[in-house]
Amino acid sequence: MKEYFPILSTQVNGSPLLYYDNAATLQMAAPVQETVAEHYRTCNGNVHRSSHAMARSTEERMEAARETVRAFLGAEHPEEILFTSGTTQSINLLARIYEDQLLHPGDEIVVTALEHNSNFLPWLEVCRRTGAVLRVVPLIPEGDLDLDAYAQLLTDRTRLVCMTWVSNAIGTVNPVERMTALAHQAGAKVLVDGAQAVLHRSVDVARLGCDYFSFSGHKLGTLTGIGVLYGRQELLDNLHPPFFGGGMISTLEGLHPNYAPLPYRFEAGTPNYVGAISLGAAIDFLNRFGIQALAARAETVLNGIQSIVLAHGGSTVGNPQIRAGVLSVLFPGVHPYDLACALDQFGVAVRAGHHCASYALAQLDISETLRISPAFYNEPEELPQFDQALERSLRLLRG
Ligand code: ALA
Repeated sequence: MKEYFPILSTQVNGSPLLYYDNAATLQMAAPVQETVAEHYRTCNGNVHRSSHAMARSTEERMEAARETVRAFLGAEHPEEILFTSGTTQSINLLARIYEDQLLHPGDEIVVTALEHNSNFLPWLEVCRRTGAVLRVVPLIPEGDLDLDAYAQLLTDRTRLVCMTWVSNAIGTVNPVERMTALAHQAGAKVLVDGAQAVLHRSVDVARLGCDYFSFSGHKLGTLTGIGVLYGRQELLDNLHPPFFGGGMISTLEGLHPNYAPLPYRFEAGTPNYVGAISLGAAIDFLNRFGIQALAARAETVLNGIQSIVLAHGGSTVGNPQIRAGVLSVLFPGVHPYDLACALDQFGVAVRAGHHCASYALAQLDISETLRISPAFYNEPEELPQFDQALERSLRLLRG
């Protein structure tokens, strides 16, 4: 697998790189890099505007990528796939729609305590602006959501439930299918944030039953600045666009715009078409192996890392029923930032901090963790280097 990722053969601070920060961003496979380079070498033109051959060809490639994303998500129609700059923009786009068109004072939005700030702050702000009320599903100490509390929070005032599938901070896998069914029974719509899930779970929006689904391309090894908001067609059909500009109208009759059909009326301005093409290429690459097989590879390495952490006296933050993608850990007497810096000296790339999920960590009485997130291209053969790097880092920091 590593042969597809030349960057993984680099040396960092004199040691072979062990890249365990895949929850932050996944490295780009060589075939995806080549797709981007080939596009700029041979075929670059703006989409939906110009009629020359390269523009038409670029447009075809972008729409082929939309179809690839549709199949990847199990969506019914390509028109349900809106290209955005990433998860954050996807959620903010939906939040703006809820603010302008769908919420009234006293309405309620439910988010979970596990949300990344990108699925927390937009809803906090929307509630502040509209007089709607934000309800937060609490955590139990193991790091799972309190599902009894969730059921209690759902009322006939709940308009939307926003939940991450996989926590970026501690790796909890939420039972989104069950939670979505409960939300629908209460008459609410559901947004699933799939940013951390897409590399570790096969997505099928029909099976999940969600109304909206967001994710970022770079977590799948694309260019940065591309993401997706999926929305069910019958919902999107009735929504007014929140952003305005080129490419999103059919006609302008005097002062009366007729907005373009889906998906274009939600994609104002020149879209990140090369990003979209890179997303199609990244999904094609991942599909060669299958997400489930790739997730199993990452899980094997994650389990090995967990054993090493425990053997060195570390503890894992949270002990959720199902974990995917990330392991957050603490070592007594050692600050996570110091440990991340020390590990870097031995070639190990990890992330320390609150991971933009400080609400979740506060619920567990923690402010920062060391987060280790292997991916499918990491190998059990790397673990002795990790073991040694951890031992030397702890010895260094503890004097
Ligand atoms: N959301 C990304 C992370 O968890 C950046 O690191």
